Amino acid sequence: MLGTFTYHNPTKIYFGPNALEGLAGELAKYGPNVVLVYGGGSIKKNGVYDQVAAVLNATGKNVTEIAGVMPNPTIEKLREGVAVAKATSADLILAVGGGSVCDYSKAVSVSANCDEDPWEKYFVRFEEPSCPVVPVGCVLTMAGTGSEMNAGAVITDHAAKLKVGHVFANSDVMPKFSILNPEFTLSLPHRQVVAGIYDAFNHICEQYFSGSDDNVSDSIAEGLMRSVVENGRIAANDDQNYEARSNIMWAATWALNTLIAKGKPTDWMVHMLGQGVGAVTDATHGMTLSAVSLPYYRFIMDAGLPKFARFATHVWGINPVGKSERELAEAGLSSMEAWMRELGVAMNLAELGVTEADLDDIVAATFIMTGGYKTLTKEDVRNVLLQCL
Ligand code: NZQ
Ligand code: ZN
Repeated sequence: MLGTFTYHNPTKIYFGPNALEGLAGELAKYGPNVVLVYGGGSIKKNGVYDQVAAVLNATGKNVTEIAGVMPNPTIEKLREGVAVAKATSADLILAVGGGSVCDYSKAVSVSANCDEDPWEKYFVRFEEPSCPVVPVGCVLTMAGTGSEMNAGAVITDHAAKLKVGHVFANSDVMPKFSILNPEFTLSLPHRQVVAGIYDAFNHICEQYFSGSDDNVSDSIAEGLMRSVVENGRIAANDDQNYEARSNIMWAATWALNTLIAKGKPTDWMVHMLGQGVGAVTDATHGMTLSAVSLPYYRFIMDAGLPKFARFATHVWGINPVGKSERELAEAGLSSMEAWMRELGVAMNLAELGVTEADLDDIVAATFIMTGGYKTLTKEDVRNVLLQCL
């Protein structure tokens, strides 16, 4: 473990079937004005809205709602939310939904006390908040992004064909608390369940396929990956299995609450490619990642051979005897491919409606990261994307 780091994660987690019991005590810590943020209506169908509203009413809060936060929230919706938070002098923003609702709430929280345009300030210039951040709390209804315990927010500008993530350094942006009741996720459509599972798995890969020293972060990452693989298999066949879904929910939180990135570099190129695809297609986040992962990892594999070989043995249990390092590395990626097919995630970009005519826009929207085993050129990005079609 050769890196130097500071680790601080202030988000308080309430986990389990009774997790919502923690909400009243949390609400008591903040002023009367609550902005309740949610998506396109799933929480009204599955009863989560009623449960949360009952707690808000019992605690006598002034509640203003922002409804209709779409998957991959847009800049137009963000500006609308900032205006609501300003007008109501929000004391707390309560996000009830998946990663999109949590991300959106954080993006509003850093802008509510600020006069600059939120997109320009945070997603073009990548500044840190220069105004007080409104506290955010989350009631999570979809597992995958890790947004419930991190300082990330991803916003899409459809006109400019850009989907941009900002991971804030300021820990004030992290949710003050997150309520994780796995039962709240049981109403998810199967496609979203598996997209979330793959998203969580890929977050771990992004932090694992980098660096060369032995470190605790990689060992924790391997344990998390094994759990996501095993429970993902169970959930893919029985998506009402509480035990599997609860393990996935908790593993997804730890996959991206910054712990496993400590003391080492990180890659994040699959996410950059996925965000490029998302900018052009508005496709489901986890599916944009699954569609590009294997061609990308096969492209960089030789540059990080020891880690890919370790992945094969430590995550997939492949016996190394009689295999070269390269054969082992290839076998690991083949096992990962078989598992992805078992989950039923998108295996190529054509499944997301992408054609060769879209590639210029996707290449233009793809940011290049430098922490992984190989730094891609824009030409490499194009070649990898061609393999994904
Ligand atoms: O809008 P509603 O009606 O709630 O429906 C949502 C949405 O259609 C539905 N859903 C959520 N919970 C449900 C449910 N349907 C039935 N029952 C439930 N319990 O699922 C659909 C997808 O929801 P969304 O929030 O978009 O999914 P996800 O959690 O995957 O979030 C995706 C967003 O998070 C960003 C992505 O880029 C994307 O914009 N990410 C955020 C990250 C972070 N903060 O660190 C990291 C990730 O890599 C990711 O980039
Ligand atoms: Zn992701």
